[in-house]
Amino acid sequence: MSPPPPPPPAGAPLTRDESGALAVRLPALARPFTLSFDEGALDRRARQGGELLFKATGAARPRPPRVVDATAGLCREAFLMASAGAEVWALERERALFELARDALRRCAAPAAVRLRLEHADALARLPALAEGEAEVVYLDPMFPHRDKSAAVAREAQVLQALAAAPPDEGEAGRLLAAALAAAVYRVVVKRPLRAPPLPGPAPTASITGTVIRYDVYGKRRLP
Ligand SMILES: C[S@@+](CC[C@H](N)C(=O)[O-])C[C@H]1O[C@@H](n2cnc3c(N)ncnc32)[C@H](O)[C@@H]1O
Repeated sequence: MSPPPPPPPAGAPLTRDESGALAVRLPALARPFTLSFDEGALDRRARQGGELLFKATGAARPRPPRVVDATAGLCREAFLMASAGAEVWALERERALFELARDALRRCAAPAAVRLRLEHADALARLPALAEGEAEVVYLDPMFPHRDKSAAVAREAQVLQALAAAPPDEGEAGRLLAAALAAAVYRVVVKRPLRAPPLPGPAPTASITGTVIRYDVYGKRRLP
């Protein structure tokens, strides 16, 4: 029998539901939110742009790169890249979000779970401390998510906005990009709202455009 899950961390609106899963209670949510990396949730997300993410990061290539997702949030895209075959190391600086993702990973039986590693860390400090070559691709999604009509995504967005600190300002976003560029072997990929300017810093070498978002790609070397 597996040991009982640890109590939720103090100071965040987190509780355990009757099944033992970590849940967020927010006044704005009619029912508690529990993060899940199950197939239904993944299928939905894959349909909503997985292909573009894979194209931008190379996560579904025959030899997928090791990806550091430096602003992991609820780790939905990190898990999607792991499902495509990439080894993903996800950094998240907000303790409550990290705990939610860690709990979802503990409950997840999908094979991709072994390819996802989570760390509670500030990317601005962690990226420069990585060993050379550890981050083949760095993925950044630093801003709050775009509006989405789907109810499930709207709930996730509310949880992110309630638990994450304010999104980085221009200066911090520029420093994140610089740290990512210094750490990545092959490329940095930044998710942006479709019509937003690129992050401050060098210009992207390519952009992969969807209907509401785009991925700015900063190429350093050709992917293997
Ligand atoms: C838009 S959310 C990412 C959503 C994510 N792509 C997903 O699939 O759930 C941005 C996240 O970046 C985190 N963040 C912002 N700056 C960070 C930093 N310097 N280090 C680590 N995490 C950071 C925020 O706490 C927030 O959770």
